[in-house]
Amino acid sequence: MHVIFMGPQGVGKGTQATTAADRLGLTHVSTGDLFRAAIKAQTPLGVMAKEILDKGELVPDDITLGIVESRLEELAAEHAAGKHVNGALFDGFPRTPAQARGLDELLERRGERLAAVIEFTAPREVLVERLSGRRVCPNCGATYHVDFSPPKDDSICDRCGHQVIQRADDTPEAIERRLSLYDQQTAPLLNYFRDQGILKTVDGNRGVEAVSADIVKLIEESATSNI
Ligand code: AP5
Ligand code: MG
Repeated sequence: MHVIFMGPQGVGKGTQATTAADRLGLTHVSTGDLFRAAIKAQTPLGVMAKEILDKGELVPDDITLGIVESRLEELAAEHAAGKHVNGALFDGFPRTPAQARGLDELLERRGERLAAVIEFTAPREVLVERLSGRRVCPNCGATYHVDFSPPKDDSICDRCGHQVIQRADDTPEAIERRLSLYDQQTAPLLNYFRDQGILKTVDGNRGVEAVSADIVKLIEESATSNI
C-alpha cells in the first residue's frame, strides 16, 4: 500500500514523513529530496533541475513521473531481495493533475494501490513563518526551525554534526511563487482524491507530536478499512 502526504509548502510534510515512515514501515519518497540529491551529485537531471528549484517552479511532469517510477522499481527490487517494504510514503508528489493521473496509471500497471491521501492544513501566515525560519542539514536531511526547533548547538546538526543551511528556495520570492503554484496546480487535486474516498485531513497547525499521532492513526485506519 502507498500513502500520499499533501499540503502547502511549510505545512510539515517532510517533518512528519520520517517518523511516520518509520512507524508504519513505509519508504519516504520525497520528489524534492530526489531532485536535491541529483543537484548535489551534479547529474544531468540535477543540472537541469537546479534553476527550476531555486526559482520555486515545478519540474516538468514527464521527468517527475520518470524519477518516481524508477524509485518504485528500486523498492520492488529491494522487496524481491527479501527486504521488508510495505510501500511508499509520497511527500510532495503528485502535485499536478497530469502527475496524479500518471501515478494512477503507474500503480494500475503494477497492481498496487493507494491506501490514503493525508492533507495537512495551516494558515498562510504560519506557512510563511515556518519556511522563512527553516534550516536543513544538507548531509542527512534533518529539518530545524530557528525559533520552533533549533539545533542544540547553534547551527550544527544534532544528528550528524554537519553545518545546517537555509534552502536556496526559502527566499521570500520563491516562497511566494511556490505557495501560489500550490493553490493553482496542486490544491485542485484534493477533490480528485476526495472523490475516490481516500482523502483524510489533519490540522497541521499544532505541535509536531500531536500532528504525528493523528497521522499514524488515520493511516492505520485506512490500511485496515480498504484492504
Ligand atoms: P519540496 O522539497 O517538496 O519542497 P516544498 O514543496 O517547497 O515543500 P516544503 O518542503 O517547503 O514543505 P514541508 O511541508 O515538507 O515543510 P517542512 O516539514 O520542511 O520541493 C522542492 C522543489 O522541488 C519544488 O519547489 C519543485 O521545484 C520541485 N519538485 C518537488 N516535487 C515536485 C513535483 N512533484 N513536481 C514538480 N516539481 C517538484 O516544515 C517547514 C518548517 O516548519 C521547518 O522549519 C519545520 O521545522 C517547521 N515545522 C514543521 N512542522 C511544525 C510544527 N508542527 N510546528 C512548528 N514548526 C513546524
Ligand atoms: Mg518538504
